[in-house]
Formats: sequence, C-alpha cells, structure tokens
Amino acid sequence: LLNAWTSIGEQHQCRVGKAHLKVFVTGGAGYIGSHVVVELVKHGYEVVIFDNFSNASSNVPTALSELCGVQITVTSGDLRDASALECVFSDHSIDAVMHFAGLKSVAESVADPLMYYDNNVLGSLQLCKSMRKYDVKRLVFSSSATVYGDPISVPIREDAPAVNPTNPYGMTKVICEKMVLDLCRSDPSFSAGILRYFNPVGAHPSGLIGEDPKGQPANLMPLLTNAAADPTAVLKIYGCDYPTKDGTGVRDYIHVCDLAAGHVAALNRCSTDSQHFIANLGTGNGFSVLEVIRAFEQACGIKIAYQIAPRRPGDVAICYADTSYATEFLNWRAEKTLKDMCLDSWRWQEQNSLLGSHM
Ligand code: NAD
Ligand code: UD1
Repeated sequence: LLNAWTSIGEQHQCRVGKAHLKVFVTGGAGYIGSHVVVELVKHGYEVVIFDNFSNASSNVPTALSELCGVQITVTSGDLRDASALECVFSDHSIDAVMHFAGLKSVAESVADPLMYYDNNVLGSLQLCKSMRKYDVKRLVFSSSATVYGDPISVPIREDAPAVNPTNPYGMTKVICEKMVLDLCRSDPSFSAGILRYFNPVGAHPSGLIGEDPKGQPANLMPLLTNAAADPTAVLKIYGCDYPTKDGTGVRDYIHVCDLAAGHVAALNRCSTDSQHFIANLGTGNGFSVLEVIRAFEQACGIKIAYQIAPRRPGDVAICYADTSYATEFLNWRAEKTLKDMCLDSWRWQEQNSLLGSHM
C-alpha cells in the first residue's frame, strides 16, 4: 500500500527540532481533517483528534498512525457534548484548535435545516466556550466558498459579499464565521484564521486516506471515479447551457494535500502577529465539468460515459478564487495539478474498492 508514499522517513526528520505544540483537531477523522493531521505531524505538531465518526471510518486512526509514524490520540465524542469536550481540554494542554467537525451536504441541509444548525452552529458554539474556559486562544476554522452564494464576479476576493448563501449549510458557515470574528473582537488575545475552501478533491498519494462519505456521494470527483470503476455507470453533467467556455459549470478544484498545507500556514499566522483573517483556499483556476472529465480520461486512461442532464438546482455557473491574499499573507500556494487530483482520486477509489468498504 505504501509504494506510492515513501517519505515516512522524511517526516521523522521533519519533526526533529520543531516545537511540540499540541493541536486539537475536531473532525480529524474526516476527509480534510485527516489530511491536515498528516501535515501537522510532518511539521512537528502533536495532535489530538476529536470526532463522533458520524461521517468517518473507524479505520482512519490506524491509517493515520501508519502514515505519520506515531500513534495519534483519538477521542470519540460529539462537539455538542460539553462534558466530552471538558474531558479532552482538562486531560491535554491544548495550544490551538483546528475545527473541521460539521455536516457538509447541501441537499441534506435543505431537507433538514435544523439538524445543520444544531450540529454546525451549536457544535461550534460549544467548542468556543470550552476554548474560552481553558484559555485556548488560537483557532483555524473550516469555512467554504459556499458563503459567497452566487458570486457577482470572478475571481472571488475575500471582501466579496459573503452573507447570502443559497442553502442552510452555507448559512451555518456564515453564522460561525461571524461568531468567531465577534469572539476575536471581544478578546484581543484570541486569534483566528477563517479559511474558505473552494472544491477540495484528491486523496493522499499513499491511497491510505481519502474521502470516504457515508451514503451516496453528490460531488463531481467521487461520482467521476465511481463512473470509472463501474462500466455500467453514466455520469450526469448537470447543464451544458451555462455562460462558460463549453456550457458546463466551472469550479476551482484544489488538491486536499495542498489544502492541508494551507492550514499549517494559517496556523503559523494565527500564532504570530495577526489577530484574525479570512483567506480563500483555492488554486485560482477554473475548470469546466467537461475539462475535468477529459483530464481524468487522459490521466487514468479510462473512458467515462456521460450524458447531459438538466441543471442542478442551486448550482452557480462559475466559481473560482482570487488567491492573491493567501499567497501573500500565508506565503502559501496550491501546487498540484488537475492531473494529480485525478490520479490521486482514482488511486484512492481503486484501493478503497480493493479493500472493500471503509465503513
Ligand atoms: P467530513 O464529513 O469528511 O469530515 C467532518 C468530520 O466531522 C467527520 O469525520 C464527522 O464524523 C465529524 N463530525 C461531524 N459532526 C460532528 C460533531 N458534532 N462532533 C464531532 N465530530 C463531528 O467533511 P470534510 O470534507 O472533511 O469537511 C471538513 C470541514 O470542511 C467541514 O466543516 C466542511 O463543512 C468544510 N468544508 C468542506 C468542503 C468539502 O468539499 N469537503 C468544502 C468547504 C468546506
Ligand atoms: C458543492 C456545494 C458546496 C460545497 C462543495 C464541496 C452545492 C450547491 N454546493 O459545490 O457548498 O462546498 O460541493 O463539497 O451543492 N456536477 C455534474 N455532475 C455531477 C456532480 C456535479 O455535472 O454528478 C457539476 C456541478 O453542476 C458543478 C460541478 O460539477 O458544476 C462541481 O459540482 P460539486 O462537486 O457538487 O461541487 P459544487 O457544486 O461546486
């Protein structure tokens, strides 16, 4: 399994001489959080994961320990459970928090908005209260480009209106962003980085961790790899009449490992001079659905059967980031190509189906 990932020795070297700050990672067994854990350990941080495994596999802790070359501390618990948080904050001397835990399906949030407000908003509120109680003053928060709703223009800058998302999931992000910023304003010693992700795809090059949702995937890349794995499957392209280069929707796909590196850069900024900041994490490039399909076919040598379907309600035509702020302020930029994203997504899919279900 590790044939494509040979740098564990390098990671050990990386750890030498780095400060041993302890980072509490909520949702650290999930897709993005697990990749960030690998990056944190690589940079010498100690990690404590907190996750209720509502959307994560029980195999992730073992895979992470294997990838990181150290045992990762994992606590199973729900963010809304004050006593569960209390246990972790009192047992560990936490220096900073990275907050990934949350529900993220747009369609599900439309069908059951209260579940989303309950989990995402109350969970974040409880976390902030515990941080205040235990005097933990550094936070990196997962937000989403969904806060921009239907953008007025692209590329999207961080100062574009971000108050009118088209769905309840997006509104939970707007509310949590506001809560975190208010907390920063009320306490000058509290520092937070709010990161707005564009379209995270791909997987760790080892194939050991990747996106492993419970239930049916709804996003393009997992549906594309499913279609590649199943010769009877036909990928639906939602709309070919958008005002874009080829009529299909355009998005800013970013490799999850680049995204993970952006988080470590953000954490470093939180711990120095900047009290609060909001940064887009994307590549700054927009690719259409047809371009993604062609890139996948070329990279993986597999033909994808597709058909044009009606537009998906709530979709926007074009969404991609202005990344200049992240480049300058975080001294970070995405490096992986669309080909890398396709190859790593496919490797994950292949190893995942060979291993059977990750659930
Ligand atoms: P994910 O579902 O893979 O990971 C979230 C993790 O949080 C899961 O492991 C889940 O079990 C856990 N969790 C959920 N609610 C919890 C609770 N109440 N208490 C404890 N654990 C809980 O999702 P992801 O793709 O890794 O997303 C991470 C964060 O990034 C989320 O906040 C999401 O909204 C945000 N985000 C994701 C994307 C994306 O495309 N994946 C885009 C923009 C923003
Ligand atoms: C969706 C969410 C967004 C979330 C993001 C990443 C919506 C409205 N938005 O964004 O909040 O942050 O996922 O999790 O759901 N497509 C197809 N066929 C498919 C699937 C998708 O043509 O089977 C197209 C879509 O129309 C879109 C593009 O592919 O143009 C990307 O879709 P998707 O991966 O679902 O991401 P977003 O819609 O950008």
